[in-house]
Parts: sequence; C-alpha cells; structure tokens
Amino acid sequence: MFNGATLATQFTKGRAVARPSATTLWSPYFLAIRREKMSELNLRIPGPVSLPEDVLDLVGGQMINHRGPEFAEIINRMTANFKKVLGTRGRAYFLTASGTGSMEAAVVNTLSPGDRVLSISIGSFGNRFGDIAEAYGTEVTRVEFEWGKAADPERVRETLRDIPDCAAVVVTHNESSTGVMNPIEAISKVVHDESDALVLVDAVSSAAGVPLPMDDWGLDVVGTASQKSWVAPPGIAMVAMSDRAWKAYESSTIPKYYFDMGQYEKFLRIGQPPFTPALSIIYALDHSLQAIIEEGIEEVLIRHAARAQQTRDGARRIGLQLFPDESVASDTVTAISVPDDIDGKALVAHARDRYNVEFGGGQEKLAGQIIRIGHMGWVLPEHIDESITAAEKTLADLRA
Ligand SMILES: Cc1ncc(COP(=O)(O)O)c(C=O)c1O
Repeated sequence: MFNGATLATQFTKGRAVARPSATTLWSPYFLAIRREKMSELNLRIPGPVSLPEDVLDLVGGQMINHRGPEFAEIINRMTANFKKVLGTRGRAYFLTASGTGSMEAAVVNTLSPGDRVLSISIGSFGNRFGDIAEAYGTEVTRVEFEWGKAADPERVRETLRDIPDCAAVVVTHNESSTGVMNPIEAISKVVHDESDALVLVDAVSSAAGVPLPMDDWGLDVVGTASQKSWVAPPGIAMVAMSDRAWKAYESSTIPKYYFDMGQYEKFLRIGQPPFTPALSIIYALDHSLQAIIEEGIEEVLIRHAARAQQTRDGARRIGLQLFPDESVASDTVTAISVPDDIDGKALVAHARDRYNVEFGGGQEKLAGQIIRIGHMGWVLPEHIDESITAAEKTLADLRA
C-alpha cells in the first residue's frame, strides 16, 4: 500500500511525481490508522491545523530548484487548483508570508494614499484589516459591530452612501476571534449596488472550509493562508484578484516591493516565483490542494459543516452556550461562552495539561470569556468527540 514515507522518498530523489489518489489518502480508513500515529495532542485551535502524516512527510522533502521545470509544474498546478477551489477566472498568487500578508497585499496592490476605504469590523481581525489600510495612508471609515454579531448589510449600505468615491471595502469573511461568519455575498451585493468600490476579503479562516465562490459573489481580492482549511503548515499566503482588482493595481500608487503582485504575475508567466519561496510548505500545500480537488470541493464543505454542527451540538449537550447566535456561527471555528463560575484561562490550561486537548482562548476583550474550538481542515469526528469530552471533564474537575 502507498504510504507517506514512499512519497517522501520520491521527493528526496528530487522529483515531483504524480501522486496517488488523495481520496484514498484522506479516506476514513486511512485516517483512522494514521490517527494512532498522531501526536497525543488534539490541537483544536483555529489554526494552524494539525496535519495528516502524508502532508507532514512532504514537509521533509528535499529542496528543488525554484527556477527549474519541477517548480514550474508545481506552481502552475497549485495556481489552477487554488482558482478552482475559489471559483475564479481571475489571477492567483502564492506569497511566502502568513495570512496577514495576504491582507496587506490586497491593500497595497489596489489602493493609493488618500483613497477612501470602508472597513467593516466584527472583531479583532476586522480591526486589523482597517489598521492595515490606514497604515498605508488611505482614509478609513470604520463601521463596527458588536463582537459576537455579524455585519448588517443595510448598515453597510447607509455608511457607503456617506462615503463619496469609496475605493474599497475591506471585510473579514469569517471572524476567528468571535466565531462569526459575515454574510459576504449580501455585503458584496450592497457594495456593488451602491458604489464602484472594490470588495477586499480576508478569507484567511474561511476559504476551503465554507462556500466562497469568488466570481459569483463579485469579490475583488480574496486573501487566505496555508495553515487553515488548506491543511498545510503556516507560511504561505494566498491571494486571488479579479480583473477589476488588476485594473486597480495598474493605477495603485501605494509603495510596494515584496508584495508587488506585478512581480508575481511577471514571474508566474515563466513558472517561477519572484523570490525564493518556502518550498517545504509549497510541497504540502500542492498536495493538499490536489486532495481537496480530488475529494471534491462540495464534499469538503459538507464535511466542514458536519464537524461544525457536531461541535455546536456537543457543546450544548454538556450545558455550554454558543457565544454567537447559531444563525451566524462559523463552520470553521466555534466560539463558546465560558460559564460564569469558571475561569476561561484555567479551562484552556486544564484541558491541555490534563486531557491533551488544546482549545483556543478568547482574544482581547473576550480573553477568559470564551473558548474557541477550531474544526477546519483535516478533522475527524473523533477529534470533536474527544474535545467535547475533555471540555466536560475539565468543567467537572474545575468545579470539584
Ligand atoms: C480571519 C483571520 N484573518 C487574519 C488572520 C491572520 O493570519 P496570520 O496569523 O496567518 O497572519 C487570522 C489568523 O488566525 C484569521 O483567522
């Protein structure tokens, strides 16, 4: 039977080889036997996600020439697969950066100092997008919603009407700090109805986990990151741009160099990156992208929705309450309110130290008040069962 070691060996010989069916690699049987070999820790933070062994093996593969034909084959395949997953006929690039790099790339490649920007925020990452736009000298109007709620497209409409010549709207799809998913399709429609503004989307923790048909929804830049639902280590930011975004690039005057998509475009045409890429992560991401295509994007999304539902049902079963209303709850990260009699930080620490399950804690003003359970990427039903059991036992221990 094929195994990850074989694949790694093929890579150490320096050849990018045709890979066996990823459906086989990710089949429940295959995952179940690999599960035993996984580290004891059940990493349930909202990214980086834990990785199956075949992906881990690839990270240890031998280096190749990033200006040679093997790399060209890899980058062309990755670009096509990434665009397929996002449902876009636009352009797509891979940068050696974390997810924030994709947000910065969205801003610096489409805007000019003094441009008017509307920043929609429902949490910590929404604020960050506005901060990035501000850092590059754009004039940012912020519309903020209570943490735990989704953005209201009608309020976005009203705010936009007060911003003449708005150049772009920056918005988070899935707010990982609160476990809330924004109605991006509706927001995008409002933006296009009311203005010529570009829609720049932070899809770091949503893409490949929840539906995000970029072209159908009229999104202009979508930024995401390898360590989330894409099932790869952190280190590669992924950026997709519509034709409108590319037109904006041509007149954008924000200074840029490392994140200048013009350089990425020029080099992609000859199957190369402008700068030395994080090859080890590229190997893993290339494989995972193929696995997503082979499993079928619909199937992948259904799987994410099922794990999310399992998490929410499990939390309720042990007497916990979801932080956001279920109608806006994220399908990649579940935020759960910590009961009044429990110290949230102690809950996270005890579950990790005693039960080997690592939850995410609350961020900024939600520190100690919520826990977050990540269920993006490669997640088995038993990972979720284990997490819920750990939370239940932890609560009992802390109350004893
Ligand atoms: C929605 C969202 N945006 C942006 C980021 C930032 O990504 P990174 O830490 O990879 O820069 C994250 C990371 O968790 C995120 O969840």
